[in-house]
Amino acid sequence: MKIGVIGIRNVGSALGRGWLKTGHQVMFGVRDISDPKVKELLTIGGVSAAAGTTKEAAAFSEVLVLSVPWSAARSVIEDAGNLSGKIVLDVTNPLAPDLSGLVVGHETSAGEMVAGWAIGAFVVKIFNTTGASNMENPIFHGCSLTMPYCGDDQEAKATAAKLAEDIGFSPIDVGPLKQARLLEPLAMLWISMAYGGYGQAFAFQMIKRQP
Ligand SMILES: NC(=O)c1ccc[n+]([C@@H]2O[C@H](COP(=O)([O-])OP(=O)(O)OC[C@H]3O[C@@H](n4cnc5c(N)ncnc54)[C@H](OP(=O)(O)O)[C@@H]3O)[C@@H](O)[C@H]2O)c1
Repeated sequence: MKIGVIGIRNVGSALGRGWLKTGHQVMFGVRDISDPKVKELLTIGGVSAAAGTTKEAAAFSEVLVLSVPWSAARSVIEDAGNLSGKIVLDVTNPLAPDLSGLVVGHETSAGEMVAGWAIGAFVVKIFNTTGASNMENPIFHGCSLTMPYCGDDQEAKATAAKLAEDIGFSPIDVGPLKQARLLEPLAMLWISMAYGGYGQAFAFQMIKRQP
């Protein structure tokens, strides 16, 4: 698939590298094309990788990944231009600047706000509930990590699930986009535990009893 990834730090580079390794074409949307990180990603990706502005990456993409800080999400979506008909994967968590909690919640979610800004796009909330290092390697004890996702469009969700599988996750559909109101606090729990002493090499896993 043609995937645009906006943001090239922890999450953007982990996901982008994973998809480049599994045969996808990735265009990174960057603020500074001369950033050494851009060069590194282009070297890894070879002919399958490219970099440009947010607008160029969005225009290139069938699937656009929003991997920027929550504070930048709205302006990045505005910069992206027309997203109608595209799938947008929202990985953001609406964190307070000091990571003490979420600045959005209960009656809405970042995922739903992204859907409100990205007019006509099919938004799926995914990849927000675990750390970027687990996106690099989602295999624990030989098992693929659970990756919950939610959205209102079945086709977009199927695409998101396939992209999660491609990089080693076990995706689970947790319902409509408003379930992002639950996935974002789950991410906050992970973050508080990671900073509270567990470090980043852990994850939440769904285990199901066979009927
Ligand atoms: N870190 C994690 O483990 C993790 C896990 C799950 C979800 N998340 C969520 O995923 C998102 C990204 O996290 P991260 O840790 O990768 O963030 P990060 O390290 O802060 O990187 C953010 C990226 O967004 C880019 N960016 C910021 N403002 C921008 C703008 N106005 N236009 C274009 N690009 C812009 C930055 O560009 P520059 O490179 O030019 O600075 C950078 O590449 C956040 O919402 C976070 O809450 C993070």
